[in-house]
Amino acid sequence: MIDNEYELIIKDIDSSEEFQKTKEIVHHGMNRYDHSKRVSLYSYKIAKKLGLSYEEVARAALLHDFFLVDNKNISVKEKANTLVNHPKYALKYSEKFFYLTEKEKDIIVTHMFPIAPTRVPKYAESWLVDIVDDVVAIIEEVQVKKRQILSMANFFIVLLLTI
Ligand SMILES: [Fe+2]
Ligand SMILES: [Fe+2]
Repeated sequence: MIDNEYELIIKDIDSSEEFQKTKEIVHHGMNRYDHSKRVSLYSYKIAKKLGLSYEEVARAALLHDFFLVDNKNISVKEKANTLVNHPKYALKYSEKFFYLTEKEKDIIVTHMFPIAPTRVPKYAESWLVDIVDDVVAIIEEVQVKKRQILSMANFFIVLLLTI
């Protein structure tokens, strides 16, 4: 269901040419755009219920993985490096295109705490996005695995029927 207030808060980011490029980048077996929108919308809804700064949460969560390095084009070593450092990449890239408040910067740069060696999140909003991102990532990975298992099962059933 479309949330008009949410859509208005993120409109300038979502409609920007640069952010649209995240649709082309594979992320958790899906694409970075869908992942970011999911983390942003869920975080926004929870922030609103908890009385937190939901506008900052919606915008920063949308930008939390905003960088254009595609894991499928880099080495294993670079992948490990990206896993640890991408919150910094995302902050740098986001600042290049959008104005960010101090809280938004904190949300982006600490969203991988404690895996990435950035500082401890300063705000409740940062903790919220950190947790929502983890939960969404797990759900996405499970969905991708489920789809792979189903398509393998499908393949073997078709194979059995043709012998
Ligand atoms: Fe991330
Ligand atoms: Fe993420």
